[in-house]
Amino acid sequence: MRALLVDPTAPAGLRLGAAPDPEPAPHQALVRVAATSLNYGEVAGVVPGAEPGAVLGWDAAGHIERAAADGSGPPVGTPVVTLGEAGGWAELRAVDTGFMGVVPDGADLGAISTIPVAGASALRALHRVGPLLGRRILVTGATGGVGRYAVQLARRGGAYVVASTGDPGARGESLRALGAHAVVGDPGEVDVPLDGVVDLVGGRQLVAAYEKLAAGGVLVAVGHSGGDDEHFAHGVLYGDQGRHDRAIVSFHLLGCRGLGRDLEWLAGEVAGGRLDAGEAWRGAWGEAGAAVAALRGRRLHGKAVLEVG
Ligand SMILES: NC(=O)c1ccc[n+]([C@@H]2O[C@H](COP(=O)([O-])OP(=O)(O)OC[C@H]3O[C@@H](n4cnc5c(N)ncnc54)[C@H](OP(=O)(O)O)[C@@H]3O)[C@@H](O)[C@H]2O)c1
Repeated sequence: MRALLVDPTAPAGLRLGAAPDPEPAPHQALVRVAATSLNYGEVAGVVPGAEPGAVLGWDAAGHIERAAADGSGPPVGTPVVTLGEAGGWAELRAVDTGFMGVVPDGADLGAISTIPVAGASALRALHRVGPLLGRRILVTGATGGVGRYAVQLARRGGAYVVASTGDPGARGESLRALGAHAVVGDPGEVDVPLDGVVDLVGGRQLVAAYEKLAAGGVLVAVGHSGGDDEHFAHGVLYGDQGRHDRAIVSFHLLGCRGLGRDLEWLAGEVAGGRLDAGEAWRGAWGEAGAAVAALRGRRLHGKAVLEVG
């Protein structure tokens, strides 16, 4: 099969080449991939240290080529959206049937391929925050792949949504169009007590967002795009003066159980036009280098979709 292979000598560290077809385990289906999407975490964090020749890729959408031998999962020909630790940047992917969701017939598989890491992380982080109806939620790094889903889902859940971006002038309008009630340039500018935070940046932004939490509030530390340390000045973690029981929780998408159902629900929402996939770039997978460079350089705000084959 053809695949995007790790190649440290190629621009952006990836080139199209040949790789052996994957051999599915009994609980895995073989999927013919139509589209994949890139995530900041894999292009900035995983590609640079990966073995030359490795086939990476967390997200992929396509059709079942061969059903799982153990009888689990959908039959041949079914359109699916899939998540895995690797193997998505290839014509064929072996994937656990618990990490796939059925996609409505006729859906745009490019848009659907944006769902696994970005959509599911946003959904699960909001579940961890707790009830949303009538509550106030901040999303930091809101213009990115996860952030755009988080803003929409928090709004759908009935929250008052504050979105944070490094450039509210240029990117605020698009966040308001997704459902943000307010847009700020830094969590320190938030002027309402928050019940929850989906933090995609970490570092100084995490500390500033934590300081805005009301008693009982929860900050879910999903992302660390800023790459900075978190320094809490003495007193910030005191519980008096309305600061009782505020929590910071860590997050790892692949630590979540039952993701197949979430992928399927999200696919239905995107296919039905009720969720925007946040697509900022689409091209043939041979042009992956341009998208990778833009994502790493913070010039691409949203999802990059690669059409496979
Ligand atoms: N723990 C998990 O399981 C999990 C799952 C999914 C994602 N993540 C992590 O979550 C983060 C967001 O993922 P993503 O795919 O949405 O990334 P993304 O598309 O690159 O979006 C991140 C956003 O954060 C802002 N940002 C980027 N670099 C920044 C910096 N140095 N300082 C401040 N803001 C910065 C940018 O918005 P502005 O330029 O508009 O400010 C950007 O649009 C990443 O760190 C990713 O690795 C973790």
